[in-house]
Amino acid sequence: MGVNNCAIVIVGASGDLAKRKLIPALNALFLDGRLGEGSIVVGSGRSDFTDESFRSRFNFADSFRSRLYYHRYLPGLKKRLSTLGDFSRFIFFLALPPEVYTATARELSREGFGPGASIIIEKPFGYDFASSGQLNRELTSCFDESQIFRIDHYLGKEAVQNILVFRYANTLFYPIWNSRYIESIQISALEDSGIFERGAYFDRAGIMRDMVQNHLLQLLCLLTMEAPTSLSPEDIRLQKISLLRSMSIEASFRAQYNGYRAETGVNPESTTETYAELRLAINDFRWTGTTIAIRSGKGASRKGTEIGIRLRPLPKLLFNTRGDIAPNRIIFKIQPNEGIILDLSSKVPGTDAAISGTHMNFCYRDSFAGEIPEAYKRLLLDAIKGDKTLFVSAEETEAAWKLLDPVLDKGDLSYYHKGTMPESNLGVNWIDFEAYKGICG
Ligand code: BG6
Repeated sequence: MGVNNCAIVIVGASGDLAKRKLIPALNALFLDGRLGEGSIVVGSGRSDFTDESFRSRFNFADSFRSRLYYHRYLPGLKKRLSTLGDFSRFIFFLALPPEVYTATARELSREGFGPGASIIIEKPFGYDFASSGQLNRELTSCFDESQIFRIDHYLGKEAVQNILVFRYANTLFYPIWNSRYIESIQISALEDSGIFERGAYFDRAGIMRDMVQNHLLQLLCLLTMEAPTSLSPEDIRLQKISLLRSMSIEASFRAQYNGYRAETGVNPESTTETYAELRLAINDFRWTGTTIAIRSGKGASRKGTEIGIRLRPLPKLLFNTRGDIAPNRIIFKIQPNEGIILDLSSKVPGTDAAISGTHMNFCYRDSFAGEIPEAYKRLLLDAIKGDKTLFVSAEETEAAWKLLDPVLDKGDLSYYHKGTMPESNLGVNWIDFEAYKGICG
């Protein structure tokens, strides 16, 4: 069933995000019949487009393009919308720099958008703990928290949503999901590319604010949180917050790739990190004793987001008398080539008792037909329907900032060559995720 009579307004519609992700996702929702009768998409911004010239920027079927409109600046928007239909729901996607979120929210509220309206914002939600609290207070002076949708696009990824399903819909894994059986958890999100044209933004943020504070901590929450009482956004939020509060950072490492300072928009004396690594502890009954490491970097040796779970070794008995049988591992391939791999040991066929490592794989491509949907498509639809399950609450983002605050911009900066991995001093025994490259590919 499609959502009827909904006006979706993209504020900042001439930008890259709107063109590359948002409008295509809305077109896909329209094609799937998810945007029903009377629903329209309005671009708003400083650029001087007409409806026609705005439509001509997109190469979609006329059935969708005829639902696209453009309104320059925000004043007068409410009146204009009243000429385009009779709407019961208004969604505002602020595809804007975070510095203007508050001013824009105020403008929308002044225009008279109140109940029945929602605003969607993208990270970064603040710059540190103090500023995130301030941003949340400013936004909630215009809109109720229930009307604010904070996007973390990782939560829209299929392989990320599958983490809770994997944990809580399979009898096999639930009993071992604790420090008694799990020796370590590693989360690695690497990109071999640099920062493209985003120097001005990235140089202020660094990888810690860009990836770790949001995407990586969200992954860690899904992997380690207690089972929520229900799948309601509220119950899930409660578990994530309690978990974030029980985390502490044991050590951190940061590095910058050579040549970063020469990139457009970057301060030539910048000390911003392009790579960060953390060792963390979760100080609760389930996880005390499990080693946790997360890392993210630009200009790294490879591109890929993976999670590795190492189980504890077996006693040195029977087949493992020399202690040379590799403990089981579970690898979540978040992207590319989404899948889950179990590393097991198995007898090699033949007359001697040789044992070898083998994999058991679940690959999305083999198990499910069709394309894996784009994260924005799912998240936009949820926001349009008013479902907050996959969105980040004010409290969650503040708890994540609070955890990271002590290490933000702190510590010596190391250097590495683009296309290589920095030599971290945290002593983490990282799983060779590249070894799993061919699986699910
Ligand atoms: C964004 C970051 O949130 O996520 C980017 O701002 C990063 O710097 C991107 O490249 C990674 O997203 P994905 O979906 O390609 O892993």
